[in-house]
Amino acid sequence: MTLLQTLTGTPIGGPAVTDGNQAKSVYDALLQPSEKLQQVDAVAFLHRELARAKHASCEVPIRPEQLEAWIGQGVANVAEQYSAYLQERHAGGPRRYFTGRSHALYFLQHVAPTKLVDGAWLYGLLPHWADYRFHGLIRTYLEELGDGEPALNHVCLYKKLIADLDCDPGDTLADVYYLQGAIQLALGQHGAAFLPEVIGYNLGYEQLPLHLLITSFELNELGIDPHYFTLHVTIDNASTGHARKAAQSVLSLMPMGAERDEFYRRVVQGYKLNELGIGSTAVIKSFDLEQEVITMLERKRTFGQHMHSDYCRLEGLTINEWLAQPDQIPAFLDALLKKGWIKRDEDPANSRFWKLIDGAGAPMFGVFSGYEKQLLWDWIAGERIVEESAANAFRFQFRSKTSGAVGLPDSIVQTDPDLQGLISDLERCAAAEKMSLLKDFMCPAMHATPAGLFATREFVKLMSEGQPA
Ligand SMILES: [Fe+2]
Ligand SMILES: [Fe+2]
Repeated sequence: MTLLQTLTGTPIGGPAVTDGNQAKSVYDALLQPSEKLQQVDAVAFLHRELARAKHASCEVPIRPEQLEAWIGQGVANVAEQYSAYLQERHAGGPRRYFTGRSHALYFLQHVAPTKLVDGAWLYGLLPHWADYRFHGLIRTYLEELGDGEPALNHVCLYKKLIADLDCDPGDTLADVYYLQGAIQLALGQHGAAFLPEVIGYNLGYEQLPLHLLITSFELNELGIDPHYFTLHVTIDNASTGHARKAAQSVLSLMPMGAERDEFYRRVVQGYKLNELGIGSTAVIKSFDLEQEVITMLERKRTFGQHMHSDYCRLEGLTINEWLAQPDQIPAFLDALLKKGWIKRDEDPANSRFWKLIDGAGAPMFGVFSGYEKQLLWDWIAGERIVEESAANAFRFQFRSKTSGAVGLPDSIVQTDPDLQGLISDLERCAAAEKMSLLKDFMCPAMHATPAGLFATREFVKLMSEGQPA
């Protein structure tokens, strides 16, 4: 089996993983395929999640004909709440979501597994490209992929955002943060068997939520490019965007006969899948600065415990001794405070500890990521970050510099082996097979690569011509 077959092959057999880490197992298997793909049963995973979502609250109208009006009403409610938020801020109120930059980076990091598979639930619909009833959903998928332009591809944009901010979560996140991403990938992999659920999930995911507006506003205020989020405010809009296409697709794909009710019941079940796991506002609420500092230092401890000289002692212990045992970080921080190495509620530049980790010639330069340094900075600055907030809340800092270079340099793209392979396969394959070949490269694991982006551009071109010739 080739890598590509592994990436796109349909039924996934084998026993379900019961290691208590199931969402991440499914996520990894579908996004970074390897022999792991044989070890997960994405269909069983979806059935289990659907059963869990059964009792979730759901305000979807009883009759599908009411969907468009319901979406319009939802947007009006969000607009009203956002305007109240802005008034609050104009009156000098504090930020509602983020206490400081580290809090915002924590959010970006914890939602990354979901954002890095944006649109994945629609992947399985691509074979229906010639059926007009699927056009709304396929157009939505192609827009998630930026029609093959890296500067518009949502996954490329999010990858660039977390790389620029040096806040890639790596392998540090708990399983629950992979749940929504795993559901999206599994729906994308099994679109044919779960069509009503895919449509319903899409209906829920593409609604404009209040948190998207507030997040965009506060990221900008904190000097973090909100382009990824503002892009979704416009692209998911209710009048022409993904939200409207989602509602129209329910109607255009519902059967006319006796199965209509059952189909809509499954659409509603799919919608409820959005309620599982941990949502954006819950992620934001879960941030505790001091706890994050401690957890981060505890993680670093195992690497750092043999790295320090025995020259310095704090309360009788060397740094290596402080780091040798688990759960000593709070006492270690206390010792640093007592010794005056950390001066809280002051500019961190006044703290000897900060000078050890930041700036030219700092002995621990490069030990901490951008996110980890921001955590330490905010924790040391303490009250200062509160004082400095809200000064520039209404200034658009990123109006003219949202995108930047997102793609790879041409020299790399032209020599990319997957892309070269795809181009020569396309030259050889029959016209009728081209769409199917291109589709394989547009899966969630590949669409943000040079070959995937090229395949998407070709797919869009051939689709608009109406026939693969
Ligand atoms: Fe998106
Ligand atoms: Fe969208």
